[in-house]
Amino acid sequence: MRVLVVGSGAREHALCWSLAASPLVKTVHCAPGNAGIARDAELVPIAADAVDELVAYARSERIDLVVVGPERPLVLGLVDRLADAGIRAIGPTAAAARLEGSKAFTKALCARHGIPTAAFRVFEAKERAAARAHVAAQAMPVVVKADGLAAGKGVTVAATVEEALAAVDAAFDGAFGEAGARIVVEEFLEGEEASLFALCDGRDALLLGTAQDHKRAFDGDRGPNTGGMGACSPAPPLTPALVERAMDEIVRPTLAAMASEGTPFSGILYAGLMIGRAGPRLVEYNVRMGDPECQVVLPRLMTDLGQLLLGAADGMLRRMSARFYPRHTLGVVLATRGYPGPVERGSELRGLEAAEACEDVLLFHAATRRQGGRWLADGGRVLTVVGSGASLAEARARAYAAVDRIDWPEGFCRRDIGARALGAAADRSRVG
Ligand code: AMP
Ligand code: GLY
Repeated sequence: MRVLVVGSGAREHALCWSLAASPLVKTVHCAPGNAGIARDAELVPIAADAVDELVAYARSERIDLVVVGPERPLVLGLVDRLADAGIRAIGPTAAAARLEGSKAFTKALCARHGIPTAAFRVFEAKERAAARAHVAAQAMPVVVKADGLAAGKGVTVAATVEEALAAVDAAFDGAFGEAGARIVVEEFLEGEEASLFALCDGRDALLLGTAQDHKRAFDGDRGPNTGGMGACSPAPPLTPALVERAMDEIVRPTLAAMASEGTPFSGILYAGLMIGRAGPRLVEYNVRMGDPECQVVLPRLMTDLGQLLLGAADGMLRRMSARFYPRHTLGVVLATRGYPGPVERGSELRGLEAAEACEDVLLFHAATRRQGGRWLADGGRVLTVVGSGASLAEARARAYAAVDRIDWPEGFCRRDIGARALGAAADRSRVG
């Protein structure tokens, strides 16, 4: 089959790499991709949110399956448009993408169907006084969230009433645009965070893997929130028994709920979980793979990804199962200094070939450019370096050994990915 992957990050690189190895896949195209992805796929110069152009391209190139990486084209209805054109896709319809696009929608669905999540209330902008009174009456910390997509910035875990009130006012004063015109105020959940990824076909769900992300920019979970600075898989807090519970108590009931309400979910469901004493509870859903979680999840997958995605597109997951390598993976994100703020583009990365030559190491590119045989940084998050091993400690040692072969003074990375799970100190050496 001919596959089109939509997106340009290291997540999409991992998808292209995995699909390029599938015996079922003849060609992989990636729109728009990046210079690193060009080694595994044919690049298509169309932006990931240019829905009309993507549909026209998929049609004219006789694409058999479109795999959508980021959420924006999903929320814009790319999958609906492809379906109208008779083209199969991995990803939800715009209606089902509301699981990510509206936190109030997801919380209400959980409440209607008994899916375990934090207690909550929803407020509209015209209810500002009620929202402020409610927040002031809560035990601290309390969590205030903009309803819509706010590029990961719409959530405040408030330690004091003043902070919570400021978050309510910021959202209603337009800090997150339309996304903050409605807010969710919810109970703070204690526990450890972990993510679970399930491939869904509208009816059935199949586990693709679990991972733990590291969202803050700097070591020790300090600094601003980012898209993710590193991840390990499997997620340390998620035992096989907890994974089963999360599938049975959260993911499968959500699929049943979405189907019963007329908006069946197909695609990849990313469940952000809090693992507390009472077991797993849902923090949020995303309707896509995580980045950098995808880069650590896919290398553990033994079953052919092409076969699984085709099974999902055809509604055949009930008859399928996935197998995993009994290994750990750990990914370290290399970013240009200044990320997640504005960054300078064009600095040179040296030593990528040496890093890639390390044993059990993979490099996935997020924002690189090729110029005269040199690799140049072309954005915030630039690379994910993934190590794998028989243990988390081995995976981590391999990932950092490869990172240390990269000479890039303008870049930085966290040195403590996986450290908390290992009870270890940060791994100190050159980059960062
Ligand atoms: P979200 O965008 O909903 O995933 O929230 C971003 C981050 O805020 C999560 O990854 C958690 O670290 C934190 N968070 C969100 N909701 C809660 C909650 N109810 N209790 C504790 N932490 C939360
Ligand atoms: N790494 C977090 C995300 O992909 O949303």
